[in-house]
Amino acid sequence: VLNNIPQLPADALFGIKQRSSRDARDFKVDLGIGAYRDENGRPWVLPSVRSAEKAIHEDPLYNHEYLAINGLPELSIGAAKILFGEESHALKEGRIISVQSISGTGALHIVSKFVAKFLAGRAVYLSEPTWANHKAIFKTQNVKTEAYPYWKSSTKTLDMDGFLGAIKSAPNGSIFLLHACAHNPTGLDPSKEQWPTILDTLASKEHIVIFDSAYQGFASGSLDNDAFAVRLGLEKLAKSCPIFVCQSFAKNFGMYGERVGCFHLVLPQQDANVDISKINRAISSQLSTIIRSEVSNSPAYGAKIVAKILNSPDLTKQWHKDMITMSSRITSMRHALRDKLVELGTPGNWDHIVSQCGMFSYTGLTASMVERLETQHAVYLVSSGRASIAGLNKGNLEHVAKSIDEVVRY
Ligand code: LMR
Repeated sequence: VLNNIPQLPADALFGIKQRSSRDARDFKVDLGIGAYRDENGRPWVLPSVRSAEKAIHEDPLYNHEYLAINGLPELSIGAAKILFGEESHALKEGRIISVQSISGTGALHIVSKFVAKFLAGRAVYLSEPTWANHKAIFKTQNVKTEAYPYWKSSTKTLDMDGFLGAIKSAPNGSIFLLHACAHNPTGLDPSKEQWPTILDTLASKEHIVIFDSAYQGFASGSLDNDAFAVRLGLEKLAKSCPIFVCQSFAKNFGMYGERVGCFHLVLPQQDANVDISKINRAISSQLSTIIRSEVSNSPAYGAKIVAKILNSPDLTKQWHKDMITMSSRITSMRHALRDKLVELGTPGNWDHIVSQCGMFSYTGLTASMVERLETQHAVYLVSSGRASIAGLNKGNLEHVAKSIDEVVRY
């Protein structure tokens, strides 16, 4: 009965990783998957993470027992504080329900199940382009997705008119997925002047927002700066609608494989006579049921590390330094690449590499240029032209720039 199952193509991103690891050319450069590399091109374990791991192992009560279904409270409470801010009204009013998730993907999976069950019939609007997994996750629950304009390729800027137009023309109460910061794949975020307009327009249509927050602190080195959109979103949108936030700790803690994250559901502001704790308990029970059937209970190891860092002032301080180390190295690589392309006289304007933020640059290179980069120069990018700037370092920058120059001129 299984003989005719069709074989599917390899996942685009993990396929790049596979091809590049098999590539024997010693000058190869992998700018595919979004994972930070140090100046020697190697994975980096954050010093704050190393210290937290050591402390956990030295604890005489160290064990591998099950966590509760909704995860480690020290993690989810600490996670909510960094995301929404200690002074958040929603936090103080008990309007935020936070549970642990299998990184951002797990949180998105929880929200997709929640939408399928309680908001059935509403489409989820995704930016065009967006992280490939977004569409795939909602598809698993038969939640309809639509695209909203985001990237204007002619100018390499935000298609603000298209974006606002889509918000206005979507049926009231639709669901919009927004990247909290460091948009993947474009590295292009709305400005602090554009966000209020976007959020006000969403509010005027009573749309429900899902924030995908995968780069807080990693993008700019500042947790507060990278939480700007989420916090403004709570101010502007939570008057009448719930907000969902999917939070990943893969990038900002460099714990890619440990799958640590949280899902937060922010209830709208309530009338004084409403019993918030009752709603809270009901939603929490629904989330537990989703999590129980998916993973039974959340994984403990990575969660303990992140919780340890979030709850120890010294480790938190070190972690902030670590995020600055990562974000500033990436910024300097952005400048170095742009400058080198300018120096080479590579046709085109490369300033967008510097103005974009976070892990990625949407270079504007075409799929055939990307293919030539891989086959002729062993430089690996996503076919959309997305490059993980974190994969650049002083040792490979020249090769990458010259290779880009060659394929652009070819
Ligand atoms: C990426 O976009 O490269 C990362 O978010 C890794 C992933 O899981 O796709």
